Amino acid sequence: MNHLQVFIEAVKNVKTVGTVTFSSKFLSKTIVSPIDFDTAQYIVELGAGNGCITKQLLQNMRPDAKLLAFEINEKFCTMLRDLNDPRLIVVEDSAEKISEYLTQNEMPHIDAAVSALPLVVLPKPLTEKVLQAIQRHLKADGLFVQLSYSAFTYKKFDQYFKKLNTKFEIRNIPPAFVFVCKKLVPKGAEELVRRQGEAN
Ligand SMILES: C[S@@+](CC[C@H](N)C(=O)[O-])C[C@H]1O[C@@H](n2cnc3c(N)ncnc32)[C@H](O)[C@@H]1O
Repeated sequence: MNHLQVFIEAVKNVKTVGTVTFSSKFLSKTIVSPIDFDTAQYIVELGAGNGCITKQLLQNMRPDAKLLAFEINEKFCTMLRDLNDPRLIVVEDSAEKISEYLTQNEMPHIDAAVSALPLVVLPKPLTEKVLQAIQRHLKADGLFVQLSYSAFTYKKFDQYFKKLNTKFEIRNIPPAFVFVCKKLVPKGAEELVRRQGEAN
């Protein structure tokens, strides 16, 4: 698909895409920058779209790492498959089914999850399911990175994730926020989660 076709596809599906432009190279690089690619083996991307962030992930990933990329739009999935990288598993299904696909693809946990899902427009029950699944599978020291065009979106996931920092990328249309988070561990369960992390 050329740029115009991608734009038309985004306009036609604005309720699920959430925008009519995709992340610039600058924003895509900012989104992947907090990930420790030396250690990350299992990476999940939610709302991969035209593959702008996917490409940055693949450029940095270890040869033995796996990337599970969720995208519901059929045409965008074709673009993602065209990236033709054996480390990339394109899932043409909704992001809430993370658990099912992690098991299917022998990914025991998530080291880093990157989401460009439009949390502002998605139905609340769907958002909750996705966030709960990410929280469940994310390693104790793993990262959850969420892209947003609003500084207030963090409220949608602050019960699941603790914000480490917020990045702001002006070189994008529109300028965007990137929330870098760790999973929130319930009080009293820190030791258990630490041991689980070591076992993984
Ligand atoms: C804002 S776009 C981001 C695209 C690209 N990653 C970027 O950064 O420009 C959001 C993407 O999420 C996809 N999407 C929406 N709901 C989804 C769901 N439930 N599961 C997986 N992908 C979804 C849309 O089709 C769209 O491609």
